Amino acid sequence: MTAKTILLTGASRGIGRAAAEAFAAAGYRVALVARDGDALSALAETLRPADVLPIPADISDPQAASSIVTQTTRHFGTVDVLINNAGVGITGASHTINMGELAQVMDVNFLAPVRLMQAVVPEMQTAGGGLIINVSSIIGKRATPLSGGYCASKAALEHIVESMRVELTRDNIRFSTLYPGVTRTDFTLRTLGEPQPRAGRVRGVSAERVAAQLLWMIKKEPRDAYVTLFDRVFVTSSHLFPRLFDFLLAWYFR
Ligand SMILES: NC(=O)c1ccc[n+]([C@@H]2O[C@H](COP(=O)([O-])OP(=O)(O)OC[C@H]3O[C@@H](n4cnc5c(N)ncnc54)[C@H](OP(=O)(O)O)[C@@H]3O)[C@@H](O)[C@H]2O)c1
Repeated sequence: MTAKTILLTGASRGIGRAAAEAFAAAGYRVALVARDGDALSALAETLRPADVLPIPADISDPQAASSIVTQTTRHFGTVDVLINNAGVGITGASHTINMGELAQVMDVNFLAPVRLMQAVVPEMQTAGGGLIINVSSIIGKRATPLSGGYCASKAALEHIVESMRVELTRDNIRFSTLYPGVTRTDFTLRTLGEPQPRAGRVRGVSAERVAAQLLWMIKKEPRDAYVTLFDRVFVTSSHLFPRLFDFLLAWYFR
């Protein structure tokens, strides 16, 4: 395999950490982004001799994107793959959602990935192409009660990517989106807003399983990908039968 360079956000724990381990083991060169610099350095130590670069950064800082891309290209020469994985949740009723917290979620889940894509696209254009993978969620496809702010942040990202994909076809910049369902990470511990009474009911898949799907996506470049058959059926049938899903979700979240 030619050693491709992957720029991965949210690498300090959860899905991102598992993905970093899978990518390094597969021979990729990885730039690891998150705020927790100590966690990134410790992870980098465990991944070496793989060629990895910890980049401690808060992606909600508007200046961060260009600095992250510059540091990555200085170290590796290129960015072949950008994976926008870092994310934060928010739960609670949408009509009383705290607007400051919603703005934080939109910053991390929507504006920061857009800024990173804007920063990386010129590099990819110069290099003759590249792959951008965004980690969304099945509930970015079909919003569920008490997660409206989070669902909206993921849906917004999907829509701008739908435009970008067509705008950048001629530049050979390809886009893939992953829609995981519930995954066993510490995500809900850091979720903003009101506690969600149904949280923790579904066991979910391991972060390693989601990471394996990301590795497969780098090789196969599907337009959209799911981790489980259940996730795919949930999304497809919710679009075919929206009123039935309104009813079922109202019952589940009663
Ligand atoms: N877990 C699930 O059930 C699930 C389901 C569907 C989709 N997803 C999506 O999968 C992705 C990863 O989630 P996860 O479960 O692995 O969550 P996690 O365990 O909470 O990890 C989130 C990662 O994002 C980073 N991050 C958060 N805010 C950041 C910021 N402002 N700047 C830089 N990095 C930041 C965190 O690092 P620092 O705190 O060190 O900055 C951490 O590495 C997210 O986009 C999430 O929406 C998760």
